[in-house]
Order: sequence, then C-alpha cells, then structure tokens
Amino acid sequence: MAKIGVGIIGTGSIVNIYLKCLSEMDDVEVIGLCTKSADRVAKVKSEFGLPVFSDYASFLALPEMDLVCVCNESGMHSEAIQAAAKEGKHILSEKPLEVTTEKIDNLISFCEQQKVILGCVLQNRCSSDYKKVEQAVKSGVLGKLLMGNASINWYRSEAYYSKSEWRGTIELDGGAAFINQGIHTIDLLINLMGSVDSVFANVQTRVHKIEGEDVGVALVNYANGAMGTITAGTALFPGYPERIEVYGEKGSVIMEGGKIIDWNIKGEEHVKIDIDRMESGAADPKAIGYQNHKTVLQDMIGAIKRNKKPMVDGVEARKSVALINAIYKSSRIKKQVQL
Ligand SMILES: NC(=O)c1ccc[n+]([C@@H]2O[C@H](COP(=O)([O-])OP(=O)(O)OC[C@H]3O[C@@H](n4cnc5c(N)ncnc54)[C@H](O)[C@@H]3O)[C@@H](O)[C@H]2O)c1
Repeated sequence: MAKIGVGIIGTGSIVNIYLKCLSEMDDVEVIGLCTKSADRVAKVKSEFGLPVFSDYASFLALPEMDLVCVCNESGMHSEAIQAAAKEGKHILSEKPLEVTTEKIDNLISFCEQQKVILGCVLQNRCSSDYKKVEQAVKSGVLGKLLMGNASINWYRSEAYYSKSEWRGTIELDGGAAFINQGIHTIDLLINLMGSVDSVFANVQTRVHKIEGEDVGVALVNYANGAMGTITAGTALFPGYPERIEVYGEKGSVIMEGGKIIDWNIKGEEHVKIDIDRMESGAADPKAIGYQNHKTVLQDMIGAIKRNKKPMVDGVEARKSVALINAIYKSSRIKKQVQL
C-alpha cells in the first residue's frame, strides 16, 4: 500500500514530537505543515524544512494527504477538524478534542457524515504500567471498587501563561489546570473507575493572571457506587508527579508519574517501588516522552488502513471533557452536578 500522507495543522511546541515520531515510521510521509499566521511561514519553513501553508484551503487541497494531525490551540480544534473533514481527510486531534461537549458532539456527527475517522491523542493510555492497572481493575482482581482518586498538583510559571495568547483562556484553553494539564490523568481515572454519576467541585484562580483555574478540588461519585476526589493545579510549587489511586475491596494500586509505585492485592506479593526520576510534566511542560505519541500515531495509521475505530475516538475523547465541564459548572453554580 502507498504511504499514508500526513499534514499537521499548528506549529507550536507539540509539533516536534509529531515530526520525531513520524520520521521513525516507514509507512507515512509528512506532506506539509499549516500555521495560521502568514508571518510565520518563512520561519517555520526554515525550522522544519517542509512545505508550509498559512491557509487551510490550499493545504487541505493537497491530494496526497490522507491524515491531518490537529495541533493548534485547543479551542480552535473545531475549525481545523471541520475544514479537514470537509475535504475527506482523516483526523487525529490533540487533547482535548475540543473545550466543550457541545463542540465535541458537533465534531463527532460531522465526521460521521463526512465518513472520515476522528481520533484523539490521549497518549497516556498507551503506558505499559497503566495497561497493567487497567487489566487488573477490569479483570476484577481488586474486587468491588470503593474509591478512585487523582491528583495533578502541578506548577506552571507566570511566563508559561504570559507568553501565550491562548493558555489559561476560557475560549481557547477551555479553562486551565483541569482541562489542559489534568485531562490525561482524569481520562485514565475514569477509564479505570467507570462512568461518573455526579460531581461537586470548587475551582479558583489564586495566583496566575488567567481566566481559568490554577487550583481546584472535585468530589466525584461514580455510577458503580465508588467515590473519589480529583485535585488539580498549576500554582502548586514545585509541582508533584501526577497520581492515581484505585482502592478495591481486595486491594489497591497507586500510580505516580505514570508508574505503578504500590501494588497491594490480597494473596499477591506486595510490590512497592521507589522511583527517583519520573517522566512527568509536573513542573516542565516539555518533560513528556514521545513513545506514547508514536503508539497513538501507529494506531491511527492502522485504523485508516483497516477502516476501523482508533484507540480513542470522539466518543471516548468526550468523556474526560464532559467531567471537566461538569466540574467547572459545579464550581460556578456551587451545587452538585449530575452528568
Ligand atoms: N498530548 C500532550 O501531552 C500535549 C502536550 C502539549 C500540548 N498539547 C496540545 O497541543 C495543542 C497545541 O499546544 P502547544 O503547546 O503546541 O501550543 P503552542 O502555544 O506552542 O502553539 C499554539 C499555536 O501557536 C502557533 N505557534 C506558537 N509558537 C509558534 C512558533 N514559535 N512558531 C510557529 N508557530 C507557533 C502554532 O500555530 C500553534 O498551533 C493544544 O491543544 C494542547 O492541548 C498536547
């Protein structure tokens, strides 16, 4: 089969990860990049050595392009995805798929109508430690699930926000700590614990000069009767590795910085691991590896070749955004919100 042609919309910090992953894959060819600012074309061209476009129309008209990776500002994913879908291109979007469930619902139905595959990058689902936990929880070895907690108590500098036109804004980031930084861990938590029934939350902007929250706490009731808390922040100096705790009737598992640090199930050997250095974006947004992105890209290419669902489709990507939107709503109205 001919190589899958790939184009990328957005040329910010995440694009280097895509180019590294794609350069290691034999069955793809990167066709070009698209940046919304015409002033940036020359700079981006010299930086990446690839054809660069500043308008969707000429970029998406390239016939050899099969897949568009959407890597622009989160609240602008819709316009990029719709433009690509209109041209019959398959789409792999960065997280969050969009910043509200209303926008995500429109995208899901539009892509269905256009008969293109829509995938979303929630790459932490590919981590081998996470998969071990998922297998244990889903096989029932933890017994009845009682509690599922997550903390993403991170730190971002003032410059992280002040140098960006979109981060921390409601329109383009959808909020801040929960939807931008917390979403990966929240996605894993609800994938382990099952759907959420209701949430009561309080989020606040305490330190940074942004519209979105930099500290927040949510009390979660899962549909299976378990409960839990989610805390998130980007003002919590120095920033600690994100953590997931799953407590069941027969045992518990704790992950930190993407690694299992405590595995204690009745009848099994207790495994406790001290990890010095973990790959976590706790204090540095660039401290993410690229291997999981590569697995997501390989999965998407496989989905296109075999015309099947990608690992995280629109419906899966909607779940974490629905919970985060409900957390924000609960905090706004100061009441429990039913999902
Ligand atoms: N999956 C992950 O772990 C992960 C990590 C980081 C970002 N993201 C997502 O990727 C999307 C983009 O995030 P980002 O961190 O790349 O944003 P960014 O602020 O670095 O870039 C945003 C946009 O601004 C433009 N831009 C910014 N700086 C530029 C430069 N020096 N040269 C040319 N163009 C430039 C680009 O067009 C880009 O689309 C967001 O949706 C974000 O949530 C995901």
